Amino acid sequence: VRIAHLSDLHALALSGVSPFEFLNKRLLGLANLRLGRRRDKHPVHLFEAAIDEINRSGCDHVVVTGDLTNLSLAPEFALARRLLDSLKLGPGEVTVIPGNHDVYTFSALRAGLFAREMRPYATEDGESDVRFPFVRIRGPLAFFGVSTAFPSPPPFADGWIGRAQLAALEAKLKAQEGRFRVLLLHHPPYRNRHSFLRGLRDRNRLQSVLARVGCELILHGHEHRDEHYELKGPSGAIPVIGVGSGTYDHPGADRRARYNVYRIEGQRLVEVVTQVFEPNSRRFVAGRVANVA
Ligand SMILES: [Fe+2]
Ligand SMILES: [Fe+2]
Repeated sequence: VRIAHLSDLHALALSGVSPFEFLNKRLLGLANLRLGRRRDKHPVHLFEAAIDEINRSGCDHVVVTGDLTNLSLAPEFALARRLLDSLKLGPGEVTVIPGNHDVYTFSALRAGLFAREMRPYATEDGESDVRFPFVRIRGPLAFFGVSTAFPSPPPFADGWIGRAQLAALEAKLKAQEGRFRVLLLHHPPYRNRHSFLRGLRDRNRLQSVLARVGCELILHGHEHRDEHYELKGPSGAIPVIGVGSGTYDHPGADRRARYNVYRIEGQRLVEVVTQVFEPNSRRFVAGRVANVA
């Protein structure tokens, strides 16, 4: 079984957005884009190229670990949705969770934009509404979608799961023992860079849950860098893998747009291939290969 892992696509779309919508936190976000960052830091053509490459690759499932948008604007969700809809696998085999940029403001949270636009990609089997945590069982695999995203005032970009979601997650993980359980969350579940500003606040509580019930693989985004880590499970270490941004237009091959492909045999993750955008061929080619068997 092969799983493609995309993250931090940061689709930027400002057309049809009134200045009023940039009030509050978005004003800061926009100023950030205009002053400090190139507008095309995460160009849409890289998002399209990643989708094309995954369509050619013949993976069994695709996961997207959050930050689909830049400012949680309706046109950005519409753009991200249109591109996700061009994946040949379809919503049943594509699982999406939100990042902090997808709940950038309280108004985006109240409007439930993520849930509205990403519903087919973020619902539990048999459910019609988006609720976290959700579980999707696909043969020997079970995908667990957790939300760590909430509106946090600048300069914060931190994450929070909450006790209710953690308790439900523990029960759902336990119920799927014996399957290859893949936990999806946007923020790293360990102490990351600048964790006071950008970290998962209740990571210790999540680590306690994982030490009791375990899972087989944890995938995250948020860092815009490739990360490999381990957490303690009830019967050995759980691999934790973060992937860099799927759309980052950067000269360095270590940061440039990428996605990971995981190969799973039975109960084991045996290989991680990082597919990196190659500007000359305009395709994603195999970069680092980690044999983890
Ligand atoms: Fe991000
Ligand atoms: Fe993020």
